[in-house]
Amino acid sequence: MDIFEIDGPVQLSGEIHVAGSKNACLPILAAALLAPGKSLIPNAPDLADIRSMETLIESLGAAVCRDDAGLHIDATTIDNPVGEYDIVRKMRASICILGPLLARCGRVKISMPGGCAIGDRPIDIHLRGVRALGAQIHLENGYVIAEAPAGGLVGTQIFLGGPFGSTVLGTGNVMMAATLAKGTTVIESAACEPEVADLAHCLNAMGAKISGIGSPRLVIEGVKDLSPVTYPVIGDRIEAGTFMVAAAITRSRLEINNCEIDHMLAVTDRFRQIGVEVEKYENGCEVAMETFIHPADITTQPYPGFPTDLQAQFMALLALGEGNSVITEKIYPDRFMHVAELNRMAANLRKEGPSVIVAGTDKLIAAPVMASDLRASAALVLAGMAAEGTTTVQRVYHIDRGYDKIEQKLNAVGAKIKRISV
Ligand code: EPU
Repeated sequence: MDIFEIDGPVQLSGEIHVAGSKNACLPILAAALLAPGKSLIPNAPDLADIRSMETLIESLGAAVCRDDAGLHIDATTIDNPVGEYDIVRKMRASICILGPLLARCGRVKISMPGGCAIGDRPIDIHLRGVRALGAQIHLENGYVIAEAPAGGLVGTQIFLGGPFGSTVLGTGNVMMAATLAKGTTVIESAACEPEVADLAHCLNAMGAKISGIGSPRLVIEGVKDLSPVTYPVIGDRIEAGTFMVAAAITRSRLEINNCEIDHMLAVTDRFRQIGVEVEKYENGCEVAMETFIHPADITTQPYPGFPTDLQAQFMALLALGEGNSVITEKIYPDRFMHVAELNRMAANLRKEGPSVIVAGTDKLIAAPVMASDLRASAALVLAGMAAEGTTTVQRVYHIDRGYDKIEQKLNAVGAKIKRISV
C-alpha cells in the first residue's frame, strides 16, 4: 500500500494539464454498451476507477483495451449482463450500467451498491426512473434485477428529483435507458452537471435524439439503435479545481490547461471572494494568490451551485484564512471525514450538523494523516503542501481512484511529494 510523504511549505509555478473527466468518462463507457461495435474514448483518464469500469465491462462479455489512441470498447457481444458484487462494491459508479444494459439486453442484474465513506448513497431514484419506463424491478440476495417488458421500454414523463435535489448518475441511467425506448421520455428535475451534458452529447453523437441538454428538462425521443462512437470527454473540472486550490494554498501562480472555466462559475466566484485571482483564457486559466486568504461561506449544491467534490479542498484552504468561514454540505451531509485529519494538522474546524465552522489559523503543521475518500485525500495533500514539516498521508489508493499521478503533476510545478510503497 502506498503512502505520500509531503514536504512543506512549497511554492508552485508553471503549467498543469488537466486530464479527461473521470465523472464524464465513467457513464460514457457505460453508454458505449448501448451500441454493438467498437467505440473509442481518446482521452479517457488512466485512473483506478476507470480500470474498475474496464473490469466491469469485460465481465459483461465486451472487450476493452488501452493503447496510444485511447480507451477502446468493443461492445459487439454482451452475454453476461450482471454487475457482480466484487466489482460494484469497489466502485459505486458501476450502477451506471443499469440503464444501458436494460435497454440493450432487456434484463440486468446488478449488486446493490452499499454505503461508502461519504454517506448512504441510495439508488432509489435510479430505480424509480427505470420503473417509470416500464421495467419490473425486484431484489434478490443483494442484487437488483431489472427486466424490460416484452415489447421493450416505453417513453414517459418522469420526475427525478430527490431529497438532495437532482441525481447525476440517476439522470444518466434513465437518459441512457430512454434513448432506445419507444416514444418520447421527458425527464424533469434532471441533473444539469457538465458531465451529464457531456454524456447527452456523446449519446447524440451515437444517434440518440436528446434535447434540453444542460437544463433540468431533458427530452429524449427514442430511436431504434445507436452506433459506436469516438468521443473525447470534457476536462475534469474537479481536478482543475483541486489544482487551483493548490496554487491558492501555497500562495503561488499556476496556469491550468484543458479545463472549461465556464463549468466552474460557482467555484471561481468563491475563489474571488477568498482573494484568489482567476484569469480565464481559452481552454484554461491562470490562478494567482498574492494577498491573505479571506474567509468565505460555502454551501454545496447541485450544479450550477458549488460542487460537493471540491468541498474538502476548499476547507483545507479556508483553514488558513484570516477569519471564520462556514462550509455547509447540502449533497452529502456526512462528507466530513477530512475534518478530524485536518485538525491533526493544527486546523481549527468544528462540525455542527451538516456544517463545519472553520476558524482560520496562520499555519498548518505537518502530521501523519489518513485518507478516507477520494476528495478528502486531495484535501490532505493540499494541506500537506502548505504545512510546516513532513506530512505523511496513508491510504493513497483513495486518491489514485480519481487523480492520475497527482504527485507527478504537482512535483513538476514545485511540490515535494514522495510516493513510498510500504
Ligand atoms: N440520491 C438519492 N437517491 C438516489 C440517488 C441519489 O437519495 O437514487 C442522493 C444522494 O445520496 C446524494 C444526492 O442524491 O445525497 C446526489 O447524489 P447523486 O446521485 O447526484 O450522486 P452520484 O451520481 O452517485 C456523482 C459523482 C460524485 C459526486 C455526485 C454529486 C460520479 C461517478 N460520481 O455521484 O462524485 O459527488 O455526483 O455531484 O459521477 C467523486 O468524484 O468524488 C464523487 C463522489
